[in-house]
Amino acid sequence: METSKAVVVKKFGNYDVLSVEQFEQPALDGRIEVKVEYGGVNFADLYTRQGLMYQKKLPFVLGMECVGTITAVGVESTDLQVGQRVICYDYHCGMYRDVLRVTPDKIYPLPDYITFEQGAAIFVNYLTAYFSIIELGNLKQNQTVLVISCGGGVGWAATQLSKNIDGVTVVGTTSPEKYPEVQKNGVDKTLTLNSDFEKNLAQMCPGGFDLILSTYAGPLYGFLETQLKPLGRIVLIGANNLIQNENKLSVLTFLKGWWTTKNVRLEDLIVYNRVAAGLHLGTLIDKDPERVRDALNKIFEMVKEQKLRVKIHEVLPMERVVEATKLLAQRKNVGKVLISMRTEK
Ligand SMILES: NC(=O)c1ccc[n+]([C@@H]2O[C@H](COP(=O)([O-])OP(=O)(O)OC[C@H]3O[C@@H](n4cnc5c(N)ncnc54)[C@H](OP(=O)(O)O)[C@@H]3O)[C@@H](O)[C@H]2O)c1
Repeated sequence: METSKAVVVKKFGNYDVLSVEQFEQPALDGRIEVKVEYGGVNFADLYTRQGLMYQKKLPFVLGMECVGTITAVGVESTDLQVGQRVICYDYHCGMYRDVLRVTPDKIYPLPDYITFEQGAAIFVNYLTAYFSIIELGNLKQNQTVLVISCGGGVGWAATQLSKNIDGVTVVGTTSPEKYPEVQKNGVDKTLTLNSDFEKNLAQMCPGGFDLILSTYAGPLYGFLETQLKPLGRIVLIGANNLIQNENKLSVLTFLKGWWTTKNVRLEDLIVYNRVAAGLHLGTLIDKDPERVRDALNKIFEMVKEQKLRVKIHEVLPMERVVEATKLLAQRKNVGKVLISMRTEK
């Protein structure tokens, strides 16, 4: 049996369920082998490890995205070649390995002008932000957007994509110590999700928003909807409220989070001229992979033209994956956290 070093989840639970060890590798036949450099840490790693994302068969390898170089090709007809630099993505996980074997549909060539570190921070964050802000959000000149968690990986990308549109005002929530950095990234007005949030937001932006990017389900979502201008759009991409710095979540807590959100009233959509949308990057790729590849190429071009500036918060070795995911759960990151699979020479 062939193996590679991997971040393994053997049972669902707290941080201590993660281990770094040799884990079974599928055969090369029908797959591409990649020597991995970095993995991009996502908030979803927290949900997945706790068993909240979807039913996964245990044990499994964590991680949705990574970058590296192709070392072997086990597929007959493909343009992919040994030596090529690539991004790999699979929302079903399996990416945190030092050597990875995946089917070609999980691979995206990485242009030479993008470093491995940048590449590991682009796929999930920038594509999610792109489809939320540009496609579903349809953000236009001189409009106002509210970005919840503007200092996080997706929020950082969403701010930059918004500021590429003339005259857009970005209002962002984040922890107070992150204000200076998010303002440098383009956020015009900052506030914090504390007990005064609703009052502060109404005072700061009495005219409301054309677009809201929400990472919060639950009661806050209901309030945010009311802050939309006529013809305003709210795009829901996650449920950060379900993670309270790693307190164990019961299935009931999880479901409660969604139940309290599910009541988007159809009548209100009409009466208040609102659009309520949702995005799941993984299922979008399943249904329309070409559209995602096109969007990725647009993002690469914008990086080349220096219209987008990828920010890495910290790179930690694979063995310190627990610390890496804790940076997100404890609200410490500004931009993207990476884990490194590099073997130092
Ligand atoms: N639908 C999709 O396809 C898709 C794809 C990617 C990501 N997402 C979602 O988008 C959100 C952002 O993802 P990301 O990977 O970029 O993560 P991230 O924003 O970098 O996550 C960490 C940050 O979230 C903020 N946060 C807010 N509430 C939190 C809580 N209860 N516990 C911990 N941190 C909290 C913290 O910043 P502040 O408190 O300073 O704001 C923290 O630094 C997540 O909900 C994720 O699931 C969805």
